[in-house]
Amino acid sequence: MSGAEPLRTPPLASGPHGPAALRPLLGTVLEALAAGGRARGGPLPAGGPEAVAARVAEILGDVLPEQGDPEALRTLVYALAEGAADPAEPLCAAHLHCPPLAVATAADLAVSALNPSLDSWDQAPAASALEAAVTRALAHAAGLADALVTTGGTESNQLALLLAREAHGAGVRLVCGTNAHHSLPRAAWLLGLPEPVVVPAAAGTLDLAALDEALTTLCGPLLVAATAGTTDAGLIDPLPEIAGLCSAHGARLHIDAAYGGGLLFSDRHRDRLAGLEAAHTVTLDLHKLGWQPVAAGLLAVARPRELAVLHQRADYLNAGDDTEAGLPDLLDRSLRTTRRPDVLKIAVTLRALGRGGLGALVDQVCARAREFAELVRDHPGFELYDRPVISTVLFRPQGAADDAVAAVRRGLLREGRAVLGRARLDDRLWLKATFLNPHTRPDDLAQLLKLVEEGSLV
Ligand SMILES: Cc1ncc(COP(=O)(O)O)c(C=O)c1O
Repeated sequence: MSGAEPLRTPPLASGPHGPAALRPLLGTVLEALAAGGRARGGPLPAGGPEAVAARVAEILGDVLPEQGDPEALRTLVYALAEGAADPAEPLCAAHLHCPPLAVATAADLAVSALNPSLDSWDQAPAASALEAAVTRALAHAAGLADALVTTGGTESNQLALLLAREAHGAGVRLVCGTNAHHSLPRAAWLLGLPEPVVVPAAAGTLDLAALDEALTTLCGPLLVAATAGTTDAGLIDPLPEIAGLCSAHGARLHIDAAYGGGLLFSDRHRDRLAGLEAAHTVTLDLHKLGWQPVAAGLLAVARPRELAVLHQRADYLNAGDDTEAGLPDLLDRSLRTTRRPDVLKIAVTLRALGRGGLGALVDQVCARAREFAELVRDHPGFELYDRPVISTVLFRPQGAADDAVAAVRRGLLREGRAVLGRARLDDRLWLKATFLNPHTRPDDLAQLLKLVEEGSLV
């Protein structure tokens, strides 16, 4: 083909020319993020799913064109930002979906550029050493011995059940509350464990008398799963009492602290996690109350010897003679093979903010939740479920039917005005505001309540 331009090989992200190649591209990404956010102008795009899908289709065009598009980076980042539910917007407060810290996100870029993979030392020499140090330190902060990095609470809960099965046999039965996260019974199903026993949690936390009765009557090995920070209400099960019951009945204890684990950083709130250290395994998740970009899960373990069941020999990754010669064997640190070092952003955050800095963020969001609860309590048009324990507030328009509560939430979503969650407690539907944004100000709280008030009058 005479006259055709020779194809230029696109630059790489790492290597001697990587940083210089990335710099202008990062400029493009940052401009597109800003422009997309400005165009959205609120916590989420207006118009609901049809309008958003149509807009994405319009910007995207042909997914795999014959010839590449030099504007692809700008246009697609713009589309993502314009159509985002941005947790950094104070009126985006539905889920355990945190706004990531800039410093953590910047660190994550280095991971994408260098692309280390934690399945063998020769793909991640420094990353593997960093991961070993940081996981041990975080596990110690929770009162346990070591920790594995996971993709989040779901994978941590699955691993906890797997370790219980390997320690006690495939007959081990999960005993959890109605307040437990759905990933726990799902993990029992996935691992072929017996049907879980679900104990009442009428007040939102595990009912101790019902748990005692279940542990007294059930036979065979048992795994109790308690929650420190329930998904729906941010409540903390009575951990010391549950630990006492487990020890009296010889049951194993897992604590899902995916949400509440962040309280460990706070001098003011850490005591609420007393009892955590009695667990065999603890789920932590710093993409909730830890301001990390997804993914940033951990499973802390009390007995690191139990991790030996994850051991695998794969000659290309951990040949026996390599291990004997001193190359670290990483395959027993995860069920995954190729694995990115999510630990870098966590390590950078811990070092950059310190425990005090992170604790201050925790205190800030907990204080905002309390202030919002007070606004609700003092407003005659609203009912408050209860004072928040962590940073979740449940509330509903006074006297409204469940359908009307659900409609208020969907109306705000469709108009792009606010993102609130929903939860069923006391057999009624509640609106849920989860405060994870340390930049949220008192005026934002008042605005949020006003929007809900207007929405419920429609
Ligand atoms: C208590 C609890 N455990 C586990 C999970 C699952 O975490 P992930 O979504 O990171 O898998 C959640 C998610 O909200 C949760 O609230």
